[in-house]
Amino acid sequence: MKKIIVAIDGYSSSGKSTMARDLARRIGYVYVDSGAMYRAVTLYALRHGMVVDGHLDIDALVKDLPEIGISFRAAGDDGVQHTLLNGEDVEKEIRTMEVSGMVSPVAAVPEVRHRLTELQRGFGRDRGIVMDGRDIGTTVFPDAELKVFVDASAEVRAHRRVKELLEKGEITDYESVLANIRERDRIDTTRKESPLKKAEDAVVLDNDRMTIPQQMDWLMEKFAERTKNN
Ligand code: DC
Repeated sequence: MKKIIVAIDGYSSSGKSTMARDLARRIGYVYVDSGAMYRAVTLYALRHGMVVDGHLDIDALVKDLPEIGISFRAAGDDGVQHTLLNGEDVEKEIRTMEVSGMVSPVAAVPEVRHRLTELQRGFGRDRGIVMDGRDIGTTVFPDAELKVFVDASAEVRAHRRVKELLEKGEITDYESVLANIRERDRIDTTRKESPLKKAEDAVVLDNDRMTIPQQMDWLMEKFAERTKNN
């Protein structure tokens, strides 16, 4: 069967990563979390003093872009694929609130987007890939055979995120998580370069009231439709 590209875009904490990872595992495709790549660049900027009083030194970051290597290590004992920043496993560090609070301004820098888009296209060269993010169906792979746009209310997403952070032992409160999600939605949808929007040919999945198994059934059905004539 010919391999295809599956692009899953949507708002932050909409559950797209879980969905994309599960789908990739079931169909034997490679999974790439493009948000993790923006998070790794953000961690680099934080560690190198490029964020002062919440302001990003864009020039310094752009200058250092060639020094920033991002790769992935296949799922280990925990079943989770790990993100590497210049060879160092930073999977845990990129998920903190500190990184979440700065990632949207970093992702709005055109040079950062160009560099990561190039890397992402490289990962999909042989197709057989599931990638999730904000601009995968619109910019990275406009020719993806299956494009999904995941939608869920900000409140439902904030509840999910609080639960996820608590499970990781990070103490947080619902109001600040909701505020962070709303602010990221605002920056992600209004930035000039590849804003988050539904690709014209994407199918919408509104998962406010869907369980994970229901989402998976829905996704498998769409995947079967797109591959049946290949
Ligand atoms: O999916 P996530 O929450 O881990 O993504 C982190 C941030 O990265 C998000 O606020 C927007 C940005 N992002 C992006 O601009 N384009 C992508 N393809 C993926 C993520």
